[in-house]
Amino acid sequence: MKKIIKLFDPHVGSEEEKAIKKTLKSHFWASGSGTGQVEEFEKKFKNYINSGSCIAVNSGTSALHLALSLFPLKNRKVILPSLSFVSTAHAVLYNGGKPIFVDVEPDTLCINPEEIQKKITSNTDVILPVHFGGMPAKISEIKEICNANNCNLVEDAAHAAGSLYKNRKIGSHGMAVCFSFHPVKNLGMPTGGLVSLNGPEHKKNAKLLKIKRWCGISNRRGVDYDITDLGWNFYMNEFSASIGLVQLSKLDKLNKKRKKIAKRYSKELCLENKMKFDNDCNYHLYWIRIKNRMNFMKELKRLGIETGIHYKPIHQMTYYKQNSKLPITETIGKEIVSLPIHPNLTNDDIDFIIKSINKLS
Ligand SMILES: Cc1ncc(COP(=O)(O)O)c(C=O)c1O
Repeated sequence: MKKIIKLFDPHVGSEEEKAIKKTLKSHFWASGSGTGQVEEFEKKFKNYINSGSCIAVNSGTSALHLALSLFPLKNRKVILPSLSFVSTAHAVLYNGGKPIFVDVEPDTLCINPEEIQKKITSNTDVILPVHFGGMPAKISEIKEICNANNCNLVEDAAHAAGSLYKNRKIGSHGMAVCFSFHPVKNLGMPTGGLVSLNGPEHKKNAKLLKIKRWCGISNRRGVDYDITDLGWNFYMNEFSASIGLVQLSKLDKLNKKRKKIAKRYSKELCLENKMKFDNDCNYHLYWIRIKNRMNFMKELKRLGIETGIHYKPIHQMTYYKQNSKLPITETIGKEIVSLPIHPNLTNDDIDFIIKSINKLS
């Protein structure tokens, strides 16, 4: 049977198996109950990224939804890139806000601070950069724009577990930073996410988000409780947390493997347009740009190499159709191809991918 080189593949070892069995046998599976692994994960992740507070939730989408609920966004504007997974924009709409899409930089595919400046108005409350593929966006420049315009910085760090910006882990900079632990992410769980909070209000905000994460339940005293806010059922479950604890303990090691592959791709692929190598990036994705990409992808599939498209721009989706002109995003949307980059790839796999692409291009 022909070997298939998968685009994504979670790294699973005997420790994850042991953790799952232990949780199963504990009979405490629900919302942070029993053996307290959700709380343990929050504590360990907070220490890992060195942030103010961490609130674990059931997905990256929930993390964004919850984080943006900190602001009264009704009819207010949020600036974000269109080159992202649709949850980045959906989270703005869930909170009654208006997404304003701006263009990205062609080398990092992260939001361009100069384009933010052009679109910012007195109605803008939040700037929401995405660390695309794990490549850190220009946080310092964006923070300056936020300060000058009385806006808040919320980061979509769904791709960026373990990435660095100015020698500090992503998660320790913005007022709220949202992670995804979807199974294909660098830190994978069956389903999971997290909001990291920083700044002088982090404790107060954490208290509020913890209430909202579980249906607005507060003031629990024995079997009595009150509802003080509208909330959702966004709690992380104990199975996810138990796997997450194992994955967190090996995250740096796994990211190192991804970086090694990215270094080879950026050096050995004979392509003009490809992701550059940056030691601060965790390489959740590795992208290249190909003019006639459908034939290219079909040919790689025939050879047993899976590829993907991340992403079709959000402003071009039927639900979001806007007249925004985002020339770089639109060109990239037509040409971008993601290559396999995960710790399960062997040296032979990487050799084969590089050789196959160089033959085709
Ligand atoms: C940039 C980005 N934001 C948000 C999300 C949503 O995360 P989740 O799938 O955990 O809900 C994803 C998921 O892939 C993503 O890539």
